Amino acid sequence: MTTVKERIEQLRRELEEHNYHYYVLSTPLISDYEFDLKLRELQDLEKQHPEFFDPNSPTQRVGSDISNDFPQQTHLYPMLSLSNTYSEGEVADFYQRVAKSLNEPFELVCELKYDGTSISLVYEQGALVQAITRGDGVKGDVVTENVRTINSIPLRLRGKGYPEKFEIRGEILMPWSVFDDLNKEREQQGEPLFANPRNAASGTLKLQNPAVVASRKLDSYLYYLLGEQLPAEDHYQNLQCAKSWGFKIPDTIRKYQSLEEVFQFIRYWDIERKNLPVATDGIVLKVNSLKQQRNLGYTAKSPRWAIAYKFQAEKALTRLNSVSFQVGRTGTVTPVANLEPVQLSGTLVKRATLHNADVIESLDLHIGDMVYVEKGGEIIPKILGVDKSMRFMVGDKVQFIKYCPVCKTPLVREPDEAAHYCPNETACEPQIKGKIEHFVSRKAMNINAGGETIEQFYNAGLLKNVADLYGINIRDIIHLDRWGEKSARNFVESVRQSKHVPFERVLFALGIRHVGETAAKRLAFAFHTIEALMTADITQLIQTDEIGECIARSVVDYFSNDENKRLIERLQAEGIQFAVSEQAIAEKTTKLNGKTFVISGVFARYSRDEYKKMIELNGGKNTGSVSSKTDYILAGEHMGSAKQEKALKLGVKIIDEDTFLQMIE
Ligand code: IVH
Repeated sequence: MTTVKERIEQLRRELEEHNYHYYVLSTPLISDYEFDLKLRELQDLEKQHPEFFDPNSPTQRVGSDISNDFPQQTHLYPMLSLSNTYSEGEVADFYQRVAKSLNEPFELVCELKYDGTSISLVYEQGALVQAITRGDGVKGDVVTENVRTINSIPLRLRGKGYPEKFEIRGEILMPWSVFDDLNKEREQQGEPLFANPRNAASGTLKLQNPAVVASRKLDSYLYYLLGEQLPAEDHYQNLQCAKSWGFKIPDTIRKYQSLEEVFQFIRYWDIERKNLPVATDGIVLKVNSLKQQRNLGYTAKSPRWAIAYKFQAEKALTRLNSVSFQVGRTGTVTPVANLEPVQLSGTLVKRATLHNADVIESLDLHIGDMVYVEKGGEIIPKILGVDKSMRFMVGDKVQFIKYCPVCKTPLVREPDEAAHYCPNETACEPQIKGKIEHFVSRKAMNINAGGETIEQFYNAGLLKNVADLYGINIRDIIHLDRWGEKSARNFVESVRQSKHVPFERVLFALGIRHVGETAAKRLAFAFHTIEALMTADITQLIQTDEIGECIARSVVDYFSNDENKRLIERLQAEGIQFAVSEQAIAEKTTKLNGKTFVISGVFARYSRDEYKKMIELNGGKNTGSVSSKTDYILAGEHMGSAKQEKALKLGVKIIDEDTFLQMIE
């Protein structure tokens, strides 16, 4: 029997891994639907068991698509997401909730939910001045140059009556036809394929070369106008005005008053969307009147005046031809079903994920079986079950492999984990690349290099482990494809800058199994130097706050590996920080000792993460839900009203960011 705590930890690990695949690598492993189900399960468990709160739980963050390569910019208004439902019943609940709160007649605007990558466009005096990706919702990447290449986005507005300054949001999409052609071309070139048009669109927006972006023929659909002086007091009318200024506003949007009409819209588009040139994954309902929107307000993450209904995934029956095994960044081995190609949700499906050995076992899978596959307008589809009535000649039972398919090392499966993994972390190719990608990522060493760059350097023989990064000079890369003097200089400079990254982040960057950001911080401040950490045994390690046996064992394992020791010596010789700085120790004050905080809402001066850090640095503790133990709620804009009510009831102090900053002055 798994305990609640174990289930919570397992879900957090799984969701973190999926987050990484989705947002960093742009190659998700599961559908949004499955992700949402897991996230919901975790949210529910965390709600029922506040004692297991973790500020770094996947429920505490909005996914981020920030990459290293673009300047970042804080959004004028935070980019929130929508709450999702999959049933008409929940749509009805939403309708009733709104009706009850407003207690007056209201209109709903029904729109298609476009499945691309969201963008915020800022216009001043009728000209496009900035385009920013969603990022973490608070700040995103400035990709204006790339967005200028998208033909359906007006660079100068037509007509008149537009506000002096406003923002318009919408979705950037790659039409199916462009997507199919692009993948065909990539297949011919032997390049990795995009899993779906959404990844292709977001990948394209992040390219360094606007000319290539232009050749990819992206499209846009806009659905949300924001600003101080909007032309109308309702959403629908505002969009019609925006249309007259030259924006591509979908013709499919409708205004309704009854729930019955809303359901008709949903049912119509569930079928008809297959004939659209772009991917859609649901319907969005919005309260039309802006005044009513303001009255309904926001929760911490999403507006109360809108909801997304997601379409159910499509299914198909096809034959299982074989099973292959893939090795991921952390060595996790994922079984993949190779299928007789079948048409599903607009793409030809050839493969499906099988997740792990337990899934194979519970499906009782045999080669040649007829299997049901499902695809949520998404990525690698999933096998739902086997049609055993069609099993005439049973092929071999599918067995999980015993050796790594890349480096042939015997695989390991930890007793409480579902996944098999390859323990050969220093010499198994996908793990080497994955480790480097993790090392350079923003929250680790923040080096200016994405997956493509690492792949390129690896193939050019410049990079075998993370220490090699420090030996690369301008001359090594300037002659490589897509590189020039300026980009080479930037890269080398960002590598040099990473020598200032503090020890706790270096420790995280090493990619020690199970050592996430929080664990790295705890260990760095408990042991102060790498030498002390390297010689610590399990008993000493588990005395650290929040470090359990699993992490402790992994740390000891990591440092008992000679290759890891050599790597650290090399990094030390390069001048990487392997001790907590005097300043960091000095900055650690006791001003907030014993004080427990809950952070809620969106802030103007620093990000939530930065506030969390300040609380920790000053001896305070972050928690997720308000209880009698909470001392302060640090509240920004759009703080959830449930939290507000609870705080009032319990007499917890609510402070704003200025007050907080004074406290730690
Ligand atoms: S409205 C505050 N309308 O879905 C409301 N979003 O989870 C802002 N999306 O990030 C969003 N089609 O990328 C809205 N017609 C539509 C949409 C839409 C797609 C995306 C958008 C957003 C996500 C919400």
